[in-house]
Amino acid sequence: MTSYKAENFPELKNDLILRASRGEKIERAPVWIMRQAGRYLPEFQALRKNHSFFEICRTPELACALTLQPIDRYGKLLDASIIFSDILVIPQAMGLEVQMVAGKGPVFPAPLETPECFSRLTENVDVEKELGYVYQAITLTRHKLEGRVPLFGFIGAPWTLMAYMIEGGGSKTLAKAKSWLWKYPKESHALLQRITDIAVEFLVGQVRAGAQMLQVFESWGGELSPQDFKVYSLPYIRQISSKVKERLNSEGLDAVPMTIFAKGSWYALTDLSESNYEVVSLDWTIDPAFARKMTNDKVALQGNMDPTALYGGFDAIREIATKMVHAFGKDSRHIANLGHGILPTVDPEALKVYLETVQTVSAEIRK
Ligand code: CP3
Repeated sequence: MTSYKAENFPELKNDLILRASRGEKIERAPVWIMRQAGRYLPEFQALRKNHSFFEICRTPELACALTLQPIDRYGKLLDASIIFSDILVIPQAMGLEVQMVAGKGPVFPAPLETPECFSRLTENVDVEKELGYVYQAITLTRHKLEGRVPLFGFIGAPWTLMAYMIEGGGSKTLAKAKSWLWKYPKESHALLQRITDIAVEFLVGQVRAGAQMLQVFESWGGELSPQDFKVYSLPYIRQISSKVKERLNSEGLDAVPMTIFAKGSWYALTDLSESNYEVVSLDWTIDPAFARKMTNDKVALQGNMDPTALYGGFDAIREIATKMVHAFGKDSRHIANLGHGILPTVDPEALKVYLETVQTVSAEIRK
């Protein structure tokens, strides 16, 4: 196997999303889709049927192949790629087993029950050793992308990962994870800090390997009250951006734009816009004009069509996407996306209509 190095990467041909993140004037809104490499693509299903989910994550050639699938299919209609991996690789690196169960999603056979279970967690995680496969996938993908679009690295935010580690999988109420906050506040903070330290290291490593943007997924932010968000989510989200930036600087690496997506946390938009992230990602329940006001125009906004609108037929998609683009306005600080990940049963042609509409309409309103 040829070994790929994080140097001499092909020259970037489309830097629209990087310029939008920095607030520069651009000719149209860049667009990409959360979970753009996924089950809605027949080519994903074809590769996935021969390999388990985490086997793909751990095999750089396979993770790279899946990352490239949407880029190959949609060509110039996509303005970014995101490395194929999962937020749950951090809990795995900390010593917890995670399985991906068909029809159910992620399952931890032995989740954390009480703080006594900390004894099952690895003391000093060697991030390079445990997650080096992600770095390799990133480096390989940067070469194979041939500069077509920038590549995102990502992590799950500490609160979301803590919640998975305690719930052991998806949950409607997060009753177990949240009861830790009331019963064991000190230990909850200790766990959040352990995750944060690994997250910082992991993101810096992803940039070293070739990631050109970073997104932090606080998928379960909206399960916290505004007060609890300020205590259990925001401080760690802020530590991550500040420390990653400091570390990149001290290692002589170029800064990369960072995006925070705290799903459901509309109440935190002002705080998030003052958290050292260049981009704040919005779910579909947030009105773009409201978000602009709350963020005082300090950041680029990402989003936010309702992912289920892709089931509405091509005409409805065009209409809803057009309204969305107009709602963000011709302010260049808009990165189009969905308000959450694309759903597994969407018709890939429907996504194409969305991408085309966003690109056309956002160029028109800037003329
Ligand atoms: O294309 C991409 O966006 C890159 C890869 C990516 C995946 N997961 C692949 C994946 C990314 C960025 C993620 C992030 C992720 N993973 C999040 C944050 C985003 C969000 O949706 O809020 C979360 C919460 C997870 C945890 C996770 N992984 C869940 C809940 C599931 C099950 C989802 C489901 O629909 O069944 C996964 C599995 C997963 N991660 C799949 C993919 C392509 C499907 C797995 C399969 O093939 O069975």
